[in-house]
Amino acid sequence: MPGPQKELWRRSESPTEVWDDTEKEWEFEIIGEELDEDGKTSRYEVRWLNWSRSDGTNVTWPGGKDPIPERAIKAWKQEQAARIQQNLVDSPSSLAIKVPTSLDAHLIETDLRSQGSEQKLAQRRRQPTLAPDNLVDRMHKLLDAKQQPTTQQHRQSRLQARTSTSQARSSTASSRSGPSRQPASQERRIQLQKEWTAIANASNAAGIALVNVIDDEDGPPLPFNFQYVEHGYIYHEDVEEIDLDDVMVGCNCYECNLKEASTCDCQAPSRLLHKDKNIFAYTPDGLFNFQVPSGIEVIECNKKCDCTSDCVNRVAQRPRKFVIEVFKTSSAGWGVRSQSNIKRGQVVGIYSGLIITRKQAEEMPQKHRGYCFDLDGYEDPDGIAPDTDRQFTVDSRQHGNWTRFINHSCNPNMIVYSVVYDTIPEFGNPYLAFVALQDIPHLTELTVDYDPSAGNHAKRPPGSRKCHCGSEICRGWVPV
Ligand SMILES: C[S@@+](CC[C@H](N)C(=O)[O-])C[C@H]1O[C@@H](n2cnc3c(N)ncnc32)[C@H](O)[C@@H]1O
Ligand SMILES: [Zn+2]
Ligand SMILES: [Zn+2]
Ligand SMILES: [Zn+2]
Repeated sequence: MPGPQKELWRRSESPTEVWDDTEKEWEFEIIGEELDEDGKTSRYEVRWLNWSRSDGTNVTWPGGKDPIPERAIKAWKQEQAARIQQNLVDSPSSLAIKVPTSLDAHLIETDLRSQGSEQKLAQRRRQPTLAPDNLVDRMHKLLDAKQQPTTQQHRQSRLQARTSTSQARSSTASSRSGPSRQPASQERRIQLQKEWTAIANASNAAGIALVNVIDDEDGPPLPFNFQYVEHGYIYHEDVEEIDLDDVMVGCNCYECNLKEASTCDCQAPSRLLHKDKNIFAYTPDGLFNFQVPSGIEVIECNKKCDCTSDCVNRVAQRPRKFVIEVFKTSSAGWGVRSQSNIKRGQVVGIYSGLIITRKQAEEMPQKHRGYCFDLDGYEDPDGIAPDTDRQFTVDSRQHGNWTRFINHSCNPNMIVYSVVYDTIPEFGNPYLAFVALQDIPHLTELTVDYDPSAGNHAKRPPGSRKCHCGSEICRGWVPV
């Protein structure tokens, strides 16, 4: 691996840990190991049973002056050898090297472990043409980025801990300076953070931070081939994409006039009216003016309009300027918050993902529907039944941005509106924009009501989950 790349993946030092009680006996279990470039163990990952940091994490990489007792290492090695042997018996073909299709480090790493990663690396070295050059590097990186053990490994490690605590106590009791490395659980988070931030930055948007001070989960659970998409839709192959160049209309404004929206040709199909005159959806400060009734799509200026990118009618289409934190909540999985204060009316983000047909969405297993958002903002003004061939859903399970982590609240601080700027309302593929209902102080969780039409006493729909929004007017359930 060349120098600079190696530097990029170097584990950074963490602050010295405080080991408060010098007489205490320290119980531990080995839960993982790090391989060096030659596939040899360079150090072990240890979970402490009667010690944790203030953020709840309790995993370290001891070494140097506090080595792990030989007997504990021997027991761990025997256990791993038995597990790998068992895997080979159960699935002899598992030595085939899979080419990872995404940088989902956690899942790939789990996969590598479960199939005997050391053997794979050895085989890869013997047969260097089997995979692209960077695959071994990537495997090393992923193996470096040690994660929590699988459930089975965890159980085995605990068993081992019971048999090896006597040595563990004598050796680790003398460890007073404690670990000098970052917990492994931070490394997948850091990797995802870098990857997502790079993708967001490529769309001129600010970064994404991943934060967990609740437990040692190393990042949000994601499907194996999850792809972060900061902006825009990906179209499923069953969805016909229409060339819009001929149907989209632009305005000829040098500068669009907030007080005279009807002078903009692009607004001709807009149903956003005040006293029968077209109005824009925004204030002079670029904030949403909350004058958009439900079922009305906002039409922003588009690529055919002559106005510039700072036009008063280009708001939702602008890249995000503030850093978003995807963070672990205490009771609703991962959620989102902003590192900056947000003003009432500020457009916070746009849902992204894969466009599928409504039919496909309805046929999807219920457990996957949690990341689906139906696009049904547009109601035909003439009351003609909507074109059912062009009823779509956005699915952000495999492709999406930070908005896929927005949790539900029965008393939310954001609402959603539909907006178009690279399509027309009739085509059924508007964007869904999240806008702040009130001033939101930084680091406050951002939420929407997943079912705004449900009243406070609405009957709990089948399949819904218990709501943990904690608001005084909680309905008690979250629709899925
Ligand atoms: C779009 S995802 C939101 C991100 C999700 N929390 C995560 O960790 O990936 C929707 C799912 O989050 C959970 N969720 C969202 N809001 C919730 C709430 N108020 N109470 C309980 N669970 C909630 C539910 O499992 C729901 O199906
Ligand atoms: Zn205009
Ligand atoms: Zn304009
Ligand atoms: Zn609630």
